[in-house]
Amino acid sequence: MLFDSIYQYNFPTTIRFGAGSSKELGDYLVKNNLSKPLLVTDATVAGLDFFKAIKDQLSQKNILAEVFSDIHKNPVKSDVYKGTDVFDQTNRDSVIGIGGGAALDVARAIVLRVNHREDLFKYDDLVGGDVYVTNDVPHFITIPTTSGTGSEVGRSAIIADDETHQKKILFSPKLLAKIVFADPLLTMELPPFITAATGMDALTHNMEAYLAKMPHPMCEGIALEGMSLIAQSLEQAVKKPDIESRSKMLIASLMGAVAFQKGLGVVHSLAHPLSSLLDTHHGLANAVNIPYGMEFNIEGFEPKFKRMAQVLGAKGEKGKDVVNYLFDLNTRINIPHHLKHIGVKEEHIETLADLAFADFAHPNNPKAVSREDFKQLYLNAL
Ligand SMILES: NC(=O)c1ccc[n+]([C@@H]2O[C@H](COP(=O)([O-])OP(=O)(O)OC[C@H]3O[C@@H](n4cnc5c(N)ncnc54)[C@H](O)[C@@H]3O)[C@@H](O)[C@H]2O)c1
Ligand SMILES: [Fe+2]
Repeated sequence: MLFDSIYQYNFPTTIRFGAGSSKELGDYLVKNNLSKPLLVTDATVAGLDFFKAIKDQLSQKNILAEVFSDIHKNPVKSDVYKGTDVFDQTNRDSVIGIGGGAALDVARAIVLRVNHREDLFKYDDLVGGDVYVTNDVPHFITIPTTSGTGSEVGRSAIIADDETHQKKILFSPKLLAKIVFADPLLTMELPPFITAATGMDALTHNMEAYLAKMPHPMCEGIALEGMSLIAQSLEQAVKKPDIESRSKMLIASLMGAVAFQKGLGVVHSLAHPLSSLLDTHHGLANAVNIPYGMEFNIEGFEPKFKRMAQVLGAKGEKGKDVVNYLFDLNTRINIPHHLKHIGVKEEHIETLADLAFADFAHPNNPKAVSREDFKQLYLNAL
């Protein structure tokens, strides 16, 4: 039976989606009596033309924005503390996260820290820390500039320990943005490699969410359509981006993140240790591992693989056809097929397998994954 218990389904915040939607930010702030936002981004995005245009838009409305962009590629706790100091010292009334998953996660963690001053990792969801998220949080707005993590519609922030690099999850429904301005025009200049890696992260979210254990037909429908949109547009967005391919990738990345409230799986558990140990980009780590992780999942789930093969437009309807589709897609968007091409060495495998087995994502995988399975999957992918 599909429904053997009572489940909670949550859907996200208001989304203003479409070319030019970020131009609505100033009016939205005025309407909500917000005049001193902290713009949280990374150093690269802070230098892009659209970011300057957003700042100009705000100053024309007498909104005094302060920018914080001193963050790591895989964000750490001290980034969040520094950003919160800027929030305090400049007397801010709201937080606007503008950027990829890294900037949005730091923005969300600052939103938490403003009125929750225990050690940040006391709020780690994996040790039940969400129960301490009891105070109000500042008004929070997100503006994605990559099409990958979907963090803009999420309720969690992934922040690592400065020393151990272990990733913690800060989670609370209070950390949901009040509004998302999802403007594909901001993603037009994303370089091909980032488009490919973040796009494969979005595909991994949709596929893992579709397969994840929890019965959730609403998310499964969203995930299937998300996969279809990515199959239609990722190669184009990498090689010859236009507004249509950028729009499809952006909405598909939001759909992946909405769908993965159902859970993720083996591929994310293979990917996370690569970022903690070797600082590999999250999307790239998923991209290289996804064909191997999906191959592991086929047995016993053939009907679901058939539907994925159909929406992806694979050459056949068997699980193996989905795996071949993924290898072929990686070839078309210049993602390597093996971990050794992204800096992984045989001597890393034992540590990677330990970390993957300890990871939070795989308990939702449709099939149980043992430490030995992780080791074998890394060896297969090496
Ligand atoms: N909260 C969640 O639910 C969640 C889920 C998955 C991953 N994550 C986190 O997200 C992070 C990865 O996010 P990401 O994949 O978006 O990468 P990212 O935020 O690291 O961005 C990748 C690169 O693209 C650049 N960039 C961003 N927007 C650009 C634009 N419009 N034009 C040109 N360059 C641009 C950035 O400066 C950066 O160098 C990781 O830290 C990961 O842990 C969070
Ligand atoms: Fe991801």
